[in-house]
Amino acid sequence: MHLSCLPFLLILISGIFCQYDYESVPYFTEGDYGYSHSMFEPSTAVCAPECNCPVSYPSAMYCDKLKLKSLPIIPSGIKYLYLRNNMIDGIEENAFDNVTDLEWLILDHNHLENSKIKGKPFSKLKSLKKLHISYNNLTEDVGPLASTLDELQLTNNKITKISPSALEGLVNLTIIHLQNNQLKEDSISGVFKGLDSLLYLDLSHNQLTKPPLGLPANILMLYFDNNHITNIPDHYFQPFKALQFLRLSHNQLTDAGIPGNVLNITSLIELDLSYNQLKSIPTVSENLENYYLQVNQINKFPVSSFCKVVGVLAYSKIKHLRLDGNNLTRADLPQEMYNCLRMAGDISLE
Ligand SMILES: *[C@@H]1O[C@H](CO)[C@@H](O)[C@H](O)[C@H]1NC(C)=O
Ligand SMILES: *[C@@H]1O[C@H](CO)[C@@H](O)[C@H](O)[C@H]1NC(C)=O
Ligand SMILES: *[C@@H]1O[C@H](CO)[C@@H](O)[C@H](O)[C@H]1NC(C)=O
Ligand SMILES: *[C@@H]1O[C@H](CO)[C@@H](O)[C@H](O)[C@H]1NC(C)=O
Ligand SMILES: *[C@@H]1O[C@H](CO)[C@@H](O)[C@H](O)[C@H]1NC(C)=O
Repeated sequence: MHLSCLPFLLILISGIFCQYDYESVPYFTEGDYGYSHSMFEPSTAVCAPECNCPVSYPSAMYCDKLKLKSLPIIPSGIKYLYLRNNMIDGIEENAFDNVTDLEWLILDHNHLENSKIKGKPFSKLKSLKKLHISYNNLTEDVGPLASTLDELQLTNNKITKISPSALEGLVNLTIIHLQNNQLKEDSISGVFKGLDSLLYLDLSHNQLTKPPLGLPANILMLYFDNNHITNIPDHYFQPFKALQFLRLSHNQLTDAGIPGNVLNITSLIELDLSYNQLKSIPTVSENLENYYLQVNQINKFPVSSFCKVVGVLAYSKIKHLRLDGNNLTRADLPQEMYNCLRMAGDISLE
């Protein structure tokens, strides 16, 4: 197993178990989990002359920050290829012919454009596990891709559409980063269907006006923040039995856009609805632990949003509740609230 997996897994696990820190998003971000100290080790003989293939890790080739305008020669035997921070704008059809068993291809911070990617060079990488092409100039996907893929990162491009077959058959794909593109719900409707291993999908900072259709039901984390979402279709989340983290902050949600029980999702642990236009508190499941509602227009606090019934064993599991930046003061909180929200260690109002 590639050593760099280790810090990555730690990031992933800490993300799942740590409290959501609103200001700094600690997990699944653009972490640099290549180990750059290897750049200073002597290189093996089987390496592109301008790159570095560390003696202690000869199947990795590091070609970061070399002002490369095109791909270097890639000798066979390389499995992990780092090409970050160059000026590569295109890829020739035969570019990967020596290394069809490449497992990681990291191309972040280049100038890649779809029109300069000739043929389908990525489809030849039959063992590819990680493909990162964030911070480039892509306007669409780069599929088809091998069914071995487990992580796809295409953030900070100008992607407006993903072909319906681009992700077809990627049964092991677990993580997709598509934040900071120009996607609308119609241009991705159904493209995630059949991705039965998908746990994480980040579509934040796009142009969605409603959540996309056809997402796999096993998903754990869904990020739709910073879009233009005005409403959630009734029963939208009903198929999702494992969803734990849902972010919808910085959208245009109003009370009318959130039908009755649509956010009462039994599996949910964390829900972020901050920076919307809500006047009331949407009803959530008694299992929810972190609820972010800051910067809305909320002016009432009905206990029924958290507890349908209150009793010895019937109460809300909310630990952290943020209501600051609304039209509520402590005097607006009803007395019976304390029975329902008996686990709440922290209710922010100002
Ligand atoms: C494949 O490897 C050979 C021998 O190392 C090299 O001459 C050739 O340029 C390589 N081809 C590509 C496309 O990198
Ligand atoms: C991306 O493409 C646009 C339009 O073709 C061009 O103006 C811009 O310089 C490109 N940016 C990069 C980083 O290649
Ligand atoms: C998916 O992952 C499993 C477990 O790592 C592996 O056994 C299987 O071959 C993979 N499937 C594909 C299509 O790569
Ligand atoms: C949420 O839905 C469940 C199942 O339908 C129900 O038992 C529960 O009382 C609801 N929670 C609230 C706060 O209405
Ligand atoms: C805030 O709430 C008070 C009473 O609860 C109401 O009179 C006032 O108009 C509200 N202000 C806004 C900006 O909604």
